Amino acid sequence: MARADLLKKLIQSHQKRDDKAFTIAAEELIQEERKKQHLVFANELERLLKNGSTGSNNRSTLVSFDPLPQDSDRHINLVEIKRSERYIEDLVLTEQIKEGIERILQEFREWEVLEANGLSPVQKILFCGPSGCGKTATAEAISSELGLPLLYVRFDSVVSSLLGETAANVRKVFDYAKRGQWVMFFDEFDAIGRSRDDATEHGEIKRVVNSFLQIMDNFGGRSLIIAATNFEQALDPAVWRRFDEVIKFDRPNDNQLKILIRKLFSSLRFNNEQVNLLAINLSGATFADCERVCFDIRKSSVLKGLRQVLKEDIEEAVARYIYRQSIIKKLPPNSTPVID
Ligand SMILES: Nc1ncnc2c1ncn2[C@@H]1O[C@H](COP(=O)(O)OP(=O)(O)OP(=O)(O)O)[C@@H](O)[C@H]1O
Ligand SMILES: [Mg+2]
Repeated sequence: MARADLLKKLIQSHQKRDDKAFTIAAEELIQEERKKQHLVFANELERLLKNGSTGSNNRSTLVSFDPLPQDSDRHINLVEIKRSERYIEDLVLTEQIKEGIERILQEFREWEVLEANGLSPVQKILFCGPSGCGKTATAEAISSELGLPLLYVRFDSVVSSLLGETAANVRKVFDYAKRGQWVMFFDEFDAIGRSRDDATEHGEIKRVVNSFLQIMDNFGGRSLIIAATNFEQALDPAVWRRFDEVIKFDRPNDNQLKILIRKLFSSLRFNNEQVNLLAINLSGATFADCERVCFDIRKSSVLKGLRQVLKEDIEEAVARYIYRQSIIKKLPPNSTPVID
């Protein structure tokens, strides 16, 4: 059956709540995608379909049709589902980080083999390091590599001012996640532990951290769980221990800056001397800063209709970067990092 007809059948069967027709149409769609060699997509659909039909309540609808979990008081979504086009090879990573990620991917793919031998794959990972150095980008790349959607959880939406609501939100997120297969990404993980020293909140925060760790430990789903923080010093050692793997992302060295610059200028003429000049000027910058400056230069070239980079455009972009840095450095030391 043509893809358009299959999609119509899927939607109609979902509207009629006809689970059997829905499953048949979904299976046909998976076969079609497989024939077209869209293997990652076909596997992803298959996994979603299987997870929907073998869940504890035996539902066979895809979890993507379920409403997203919400904070009951503020009525805001606790999660976002994201799909990324980013892959590991698009990023500039140290050999150590690359090897760590390869191992995580391999263990995840060979889950059944490990389990059959009484072993568990790495499932809970903590990403730490300064802002703009690849924590989110790497989580996105891992989700693309595994062909799984990214279930993005912002801790600042999960953390509620209402007593008891935060733990309830954490539970809602994991209950939702259990019905599908994802790379779960808990961004700003430190948000739940940040005010531990605040005497008035101490008891509640501690309870929330503990219940988060407990819910995470008891999570039976086959998803990868990644938590990210750029305030790793603020996390309790008890929290660190609960993660199977910790990966530290650092600011790029000059060589890594050059690699990123070359990647970002692959479509323009940009000679080695210019690459070196830019890298020297960006020494100490984050990947995000470097990316911003490179896009800034590329925009200047495009707006001038040029296929090559002018020295003056590099100098102007670097001057704007230095000005921006000077503003950021004047901020009080306890302000939240502004580099996005
Ligand atoms: N290692 C890297 N290689 C290539 N590009 C990178 C790398 N790290 C970051 N970038 C670029 O910088 C941008 C910001 O990075 P990212 O969002 O991953 O930072 P982060 O560590 O999650 O920061 P934050 O702590 O503020 O959330 C990304 O969109 C990506 O394009
Ligand atoms: Mg991030």
